Amino acid sequence: MNDAANRILVLFAHPALEKSRVNRVLIEGLADLRGVTLHDLYEAYPDFGIDVGREQRLLLDHDIIVFHHPMFWYSTPAILKEWQDLVLAHGWAYGSDGTALLGKRWLHAITTGAREVAYAAGGHNEYTVRELLRPLEQTARLCSMEFLPPFAVHGTLGMRPDEIRAHAADYRRLLVALRDGQLDLERARAVNRLNAELDSIIGRREA
Ligand SMILES: Cc1cc2nc3c(=O)[nH]c(=O)nc-3n(C[C@H](O)[C@H](O)[C@H](O)COP(=O)(O)O)c2cc1C
Repeated sequence: MNDAANRILVLFAHPALEKSRVNRVLIEGLADLRGVTLHDLYEAYPDFGIDVGREQRLLLDHDIIVFHHPMFWYSTPAILKEWQDLVLAHGWAYGSDGTALLGKRWLHAITTGAREVAYAAGGHNEYTVRELLRPLEQTARLCSMEFLPPFAVHGTLGMRPDEIRAHAADYRRLLVALRDGQLDLERARAVNRLNAELDSIIGRREA
């Protein structure tokens, strides 16, 4: 993949950012990143009054859409459901005339309180995060978008500050690679979570 300079939209959803330990640090690491637009949905729409036209224009202006959120009840915080229901409109995002999002990429940057061992067959949560994201994967497919495996940070409860900083560095590295077209997509498509295999799916390191 060599489509350099992809524009990335990070749709960030955390309803209590003032209490966040992990996601706060993950987004702080993106602040100065060229080509990355950070859009905090709870800040923009504290009363869920989503501006559909604005959101659709943002989508049109970007190539890669990152849904960045903590896992809530094996899914997303509520505003991302409202966002999907309103923004991914018939005749625009899907349906015979709905081709606005054709070819764009969709991925999740997601944090879970539980550790990775819980997200496996026979584990406490039975399914991997990638499996739990199936409805969103199919939503992306219906919108003619390519769904990539998630960047998933497990075990946020009690995570040490140095571990959080390491995840933030990985997240930044992934977004730089996506922006610069340096992700090995064949390999990336096959993994459970992108950050488990960063060294093998990123061609070149950030200069
Ligand atoms: C309403 C709610 C639902 C949650 N559901 C889950 C869940 O299904 N699985 C899980 O592992 N953690 C769950 N958690 C824990 C959050 O994912 C965790 O607090 C978050 O990843 C921490 O990130 P932060 O430090 O940025 O807030 C839930 C937390 C809340 C408040």
